[in-house]
Amino acid sequence: MSGSEVKAIEWLDGRVRWLNTLKIPWEEEYIETEDYERLAQAIEAMEIRGAPAIGVAAAFGVALAAVHSKSNDVETLKLELLKAIERFSKTRPTAVNLFWALDRMRAVVLRTYGDVDGLRASVVKEALTIYEEDIKTNLRIGEVGSELIEDGDTILTHCNAGSLATAGFGTALGVVRAAWRSGKKVKVIATETRPLLQGARLTVWELVKEGIPVTLISDNMVGYVMSKGLVNKVFVGADRILMDGHVINKIGTYTIAVLANRHKVPFYAVAPTSTIDPHRRVEEVVIEERNPDEVRKVLGKILITVKDVPVMNPAFDITPPELVEGIVTEKGVARKPYRETLRKLLGL
Ligand code: MRU
Repeated sequence: MSGSEVKAIEWLDGRVRWLNTLKIPWEEEYIETEDYERLAQAIEAMEIRGAPAIGVAAAFGVALAAVHSKSNDVETLKLELLKAIERFSKTRPTAVNLFWALDRMRAVVLRTYGDVDGLRASVVKEALTIYEEDIKTNLRIGEVGSELIEDGDTILTHCNAGSLATAGFGTALGVVRAAWRSGKKVKVIATETRPLLQGARLTVWELVKEGIPVTLISDNMVGYVMSKGLVNKVFVGADRILMDGHVINKIGTYTIAVLANRHKVPFYAVAPTSTIDPHRRVEEVVIEERNPDEVRKVLGKILITVKDVPVMNPAFDITPPELVEGIVTEKGVARKPYRETLRKLLGL
C-alpha cells in the first residue's frame, strides 16, 4: 500500500480504530473503542461499511470481547465470545464476508484451550490474520484485474469498493488503482449512488486523493454516458456472489449491468473469494431494507419529498449471471458458465 490510501479500520493493541465514513468527504474523523457493542453499532450506522471491511470489523469486535472480558474460565469466556459473534451476525444481513469472518472466529473459539490466555491470544491472532489476508488478497485482485484494463480506458464504477470498503487497497477500485500505478492512463466515471452517496462521497474522495482522474455523474446518467460511447468497462464490487454467478451488490448495480449489456460494455464484478457464497440459492438471499428516511431526505437532513410518503429502500440488488462478463478474484477471473469456473477457482 502507499501513503495515498487511508486505513478504514485497524487494531491498536486492544482497541479498534476506524475512519467514520459517514463524515467523508467533509471531515476525517477517527473513532476508537475497546467496547465491542460500540463497534457493532458502528457497522449498523455505516460508520464502517463495505463487505470486506465489515467482516474485518466483526472479527476485531470478537477480539475486543476476548481481550476485555473479566472471565478467568475458558468455558465462560467461550460463551461470552459466542454471544459477541451472535451480536455481530445481527448487524447487517446481506454481505457474506461478515458471516464468513464470524464463522472463522467461531471455529477458533470452539477449539480446545488450557487457559483463557491461550483462547484470548488465538482469537486476536485470527482477527489480525483476517485483516492482513484481506489486504494481500486485494493487492492480488488488483494484479489480476488490471490485466483487463487497457491504456486509455474509461472505467465506470458504482458505490465504493475501495480502501474505505476493505482493510486496504480495495477491490474494484483496487483494480483501477493497480492499472494506474502500472502506468496505464485510466479515467473513472463514478456514479453518485443514491441514497447514501457512497460514490459521490467516498469513491470520488479516494480517487482525488490518489490523483486518478474521476468524473462524477448522478445515477440516472449512466444510459446517456454509455450511449455516447464514454465508457469502456464497468468494474463494481460485490457483497455476495452465488455459485451460479448472481452478483449481489449496491442498489443500482443491476440497472448499470442491463445498460452495459445493451451498449456492449463489459461488466465485471470484483471481489475476494470470501464474497462467494457456496451455499445460498438466489431466492434465499436477504436483501437489507433500510430506513425510509434515507430516501425521503438527503444525508438525513433535507426532506426532498412529502413527509411520510411510503418509500422502498432496498440497499442491494441482484445482477443475473448472463449480464456479467467476468468475476475477478484473487485466484483469477471466472467466466461463464460460473457454476463450473467458480467451483474450479474455489477448488470444490
Ligand atoms: O451498503 P454498503 O456501503 O456497505 O455497500 C457496499 C457495497 O455495495 C460495495 O460495492 C461492496 O460491499 C463491495 S466493497 C469492496
